[in-house]
Amino acid sequence: MSSSVSPAPPGSGLDPLAPALSPSGDGAAGEDRVLVFDFGSQTAQLIARRVREQNVFCEIVRPDLPADRVRELNPRGLILSGGPASVYAEGAPQPDPEIFDLGVPVLGICYGMQVLARAMGCEVKPGADREFGRTTLRVAAPSDPLLDGLPSESTVWMSHGDQVEGLSEAFAPLATTGTCPAAAVKHRDRPVYGLQFHPEVTHTEHGGRLLANFVTGVCGCRGTWEIGRLIDQEIAGVRETVGDARVICGLSGGVDSSVVAALLYQAIGDQLSCIFVDNGLLREGEAEQVRTEFGDHFKTDLHVCDARSQFLNALAGVSDPQQKRKIIGREFIDAFKREAVSIPNARFLAQGTLYPDVIESGANPDGPAATIKSHHNVGGLPEELGFELIEPLRNLFKDEVRAMGVELGLPEDLVWRHPFPGPGLAVRCLGEVTAEKLVTLRAADAIVIDELRKAGLYRDVRQAFAVLLPVQSVGVMGDGRTYEDTICVRAVKTDDYMTADWYPLPHEVLGRIATRVINSVRGVNRVVYDVSSKPPATIEWE
Ligand code: XMP
Repeated sequence: MSSSVSPAPPGSGLDPLAPALSPSGDGAAGEDRVLVFDFGSQTAQLIARRVREQNVFCEIVRPDLPADRVRELNPRGLILSGGPASVYAEGAPQPDPEIFDLGVPVLGICYGMQVLARAMGCEVKPGADREFGRTTLRVAAPSDPLLDGLPSESTVWMSHGDQVEGLSEAFAPLATTGTCPAAAVKHRDRPVYGLQFHPEVTHTEHGGRLLANFVTGVCGCRGTWEIGRLIDQEIAGVRETVGDARVICGLSGGVDSSVVAALLYQAIGDQLSCIFVDNGLLREGEAEQVRTEFGDHFKTDLHVCDARSQFLNALAGVSDPQQKRKIIGREFIDAFKREAVSIPNARFLAQGTLYPDVIESGANPDGPAATIKSHHNVGGLPEELGFELIEPLRNLFKDEVRAMGVELGLPEDLVWRHPFPGPGLAVRCLGEVTAEKLVTLRAADAIVIDELRKAGLYRDVRQAFAVLLPVQSVGVMGDGRTYEDTICVRAVKTDDYMTADWYPLPHEVLGRIATRVINSVRGVNRVVYDVSSKPPATIEWE
């Protein structure tokens, strides 16, 4: 997005949740590669995802990556993302102009188009009016490979202030909109394209097709980057790195650590030891599933640390949410350490770090600078324990991790499980955490999830759960008055978990949840539904 526009375009479809290896040392050796130069766009990750949907390896790099480094990385194509700056703003990010002389195809999107057009002699006009929203694109050059298969008119998503107006002789317009004479342009002699609109968001009707056309038709990428091949590459990489050393993998019950463990089991079999700390704060059935999957199905050397009473004792009498988190973090490291020292000769610790974290932490020297975002899960485990880290998922987005999980034979319900916070049910049990409250909360939560599954809504709702409120109220049961607890149902729709909308669950589903919770969960006489969005609320209650 360029000059001034702040909200992420709706429909951006991002699904990331949850730090470094240089691109040349990743699991994509020998693959066609496309680089996305991130000029501060909220959709740079989405562009990369759309490219990867074409089975082409794609990486996000900093906006000023030097042309020499680009040459070393040997990409087939470069995409310059949008960004919040105006090209006229002081300190507006600029690419190394020599990247346009490498002979590598370039696609500039919005701000990315403006910087490339300006670098090549076009006039960029500061936007007096911003354009934000859907508009109609009219194709003027249907035979150009970038526009292959597009209808003569289609809807695109605009979000910009500045726009390219004075096209230099070097550029030809390919498509227009009512307000934008250069909505899509191409350099006459070089494989350099610009789009004023955003092809990466789902609101652009044929955006996926446009990006596919660029990546395959213009750049000539072969589309060979597949999860199956990736698994083989990662397995080979892990074997080479660890040799005959022992690797410890911490299991949380969630998808990322499960996929890491399943991958490592394939790679190194009985050199893998898994540690599962049962903190007593998990959802119903989760601890059992870890035992079944990684003890019975994948026969890993599974160490279950039953720390339920350790955590409860440490949490006794504590109501402050930050304090609860601190205690849980401390107790986890303590329990994990105790278990880890019982595993002799372990040298590596495997972690389920994902690509969005690598990018956002600024840990990759070629990647963009760190964004200001606090990560819930960046803990001090590795430093504390002195292990070398291996992070086999560090090049993957969440949906790619899920696909890998399925390929590795993990059950669907585990692979598609809603995200769950590290401190577990403690953040959903407001006030002091007690064994009794956890029983109540776990039972209510299981009903919420069960009803969503029965209604076929579980996957569409990106996160749902029950919260046990520290509120008692009066009710009637039979002839008697009751004074009991309140369960709040929370369900959100979100792409990136940074913003979220409350999910409009059908009344019948809410009704069934309430009836079942009140009838079968002892100590609860009232169920309420949370209709707040994030921001200003958060997803969890704490
Ligand atoms: P909030 O509540 O900040 O949560 O809107 C955003 C997303 O992050 C999850 N979350 C956590 N995940 N450890 C985690 O692993 C945590 O301490 C933590 N706190 C929140 C939350 O469930 C939601 O998906």
